[in-house]
Amino acid sequence: MKFFIDSVDIEAIKKFTLSGMVDGVTTNPSIIAKSGRDFKEVIREICSIVPGPVSAEVTATKASQMIEEGEVLSKLAKNVTVKVPLTWDGLEACKRLADQNIMVNVTLCFSAQQALLAAKAGAAFISPFIGRLDDLGEDGMDLIKDIRAIYDNYSNLKTEILAASIRTPDHVRRAAILGADVSTLPPTVLEELAIHPLTDKGLKAFLDDWEKTGQNII
Ligand code: G3P
Repeated sequence: MKFFIDSVDIEAIKKFTLSGMVDGVTTNPSIIAKSGRDFKEVIREICSIVPGPVSAEVTATKASQMIEEGEVLSKLAKNVTVKVPLTWDGLEACKRLADQNIMVNVTLCFSAQQALLAAKAGAAFISPFIGRLDDLGEDGMDLIKDIRAIYDNYSNLKTEILAASIRTPDHVRRAAILGADVSTLPPTVLEELAIHPLTDKGLKAFLDDWEKTGQNII
């Protein structure tokens, strides 16, 4: 499974790059607004750090304008993936951008049939929002399962499933079991993935015993 960082936190992106955990980055207008950073500048900066796909979202709602914005964003760096919403305009923009060999991430997916449309429109990624379905009392992971089953039925559909709105380490575990291609993670959730109380307890016991030996490795 690939991991994308769902953030423009440069320090976090650099930190997790050191351990080989960053296969790409996703952003959205809310993340950009919260960061206070200039959109194009921060996308360029991230693309200079991360060689994998970096999603930058259009903000127009009409297909023709989405395409124009997508073309501008795609020129910021060669690894920019243009993100469009799952609307009919977004699907048209996806098709026309994909026809220009621009990678497209179709976002705000809440049903398997929407994911089927995105794949037919040539999306490189589909972003089902797990946490937001959980918020409504549904099990967002059912959506990953359905999309995986549909995409696996048709070998011509090449779209990767990018599990988004991931809120917990358990979301990552379940998405991986179900075969999502990518999880995009807030840095806090990625941080938590390595943490287990028995790891800490076991390490402490090992180090206490080692100290008793009086030895050094170096
Ligand atoms: O990847 C999509 C993500 O940024 C949305 O997450 O937690 O706002 O639903 P959330």
